[in-house]
Amino acid sequence: MEIKTAEFVISNSSVEKCPETQMPEYAFIGRSNVGKSSLINMLANRLKLAKTSATPGKTMLINHFLINGQWYLVDLPGYGYAKRSKTETAKLQKIISDYILKREQMTNLFVLIDSRHEPQKIDLEFIEWLGENGIPFSIVFTKADKSSRTKLHSTISNYLKVLQEQWEELPPYFITSSEDKTGRGELLDYIENINRSL
Ligand code: GTP
Ligand code: MG
Repeated sequence: MEIKTAEFVISNSSVEKCPETQMPEYAFIGRSNVGKSSLINMLANRLKLAKTSATPGKTMLINHFLINGQWYLVDLPGYGYAKRSKTETAKLQKIISDYILKREQMTNLFVLIDSRHEPQKIDLEFIEWLGENGIPFSIVFTKADKSSRTKLHSTISNYLKVLQEQWEELPPYFITSSEDKTGRGELLDYIENINRSL
């Protein structure tokens, strides 16, 4: 799929204030700093569409980006950033869970996992919560450019093995790099196919 237009629409702190359109939305979630905003920019082919940062905790709101005038990419705040206050963590958790549970337009949630790391409890628990709530999701392994091919494949196959202990059937998964655009075509095709099926 070709990205012809990508525009920022709105940032807000609650699902109630999200755009009142019925267009499908593809949202991105994962630990702070995993590369959500960078991936959105890579998909949209626009370096500064979503704000990125080398320090975790950059995205604090729900951000809607309209693509080709037909569907949205949605950048969400990350979870699991240890340096936040309890109040702030609770507030962000509510923003995230309200969006995921209540936003009917959310067609698919991409759960981002850093491809360099062993499975972490916080992500596995989050994925389990998605399953319990029947949320449609896929896994996106990020920052593939940071590891050698051998290391990358062994970490990912180990990750899938751990997921298989939890899931009868594995969710769709993608291997990506926002640096060298690995996985861009696959992800856009996947989105296009879902859009067509709606
Ligand atoms: P929060 O908004 O804080 O939750 O973070 P985020 O998940 O949106 O991460 P962001 O896109 O801001 O990226 C965090 C850092 O990782 C930045 O320094 C990015 O440049 C870097 N980064 C993201 N994706 C990649 C990638 O594919 N490869 C490499 N090498 N660096 C990446
Ligand atoms: Mg971000």
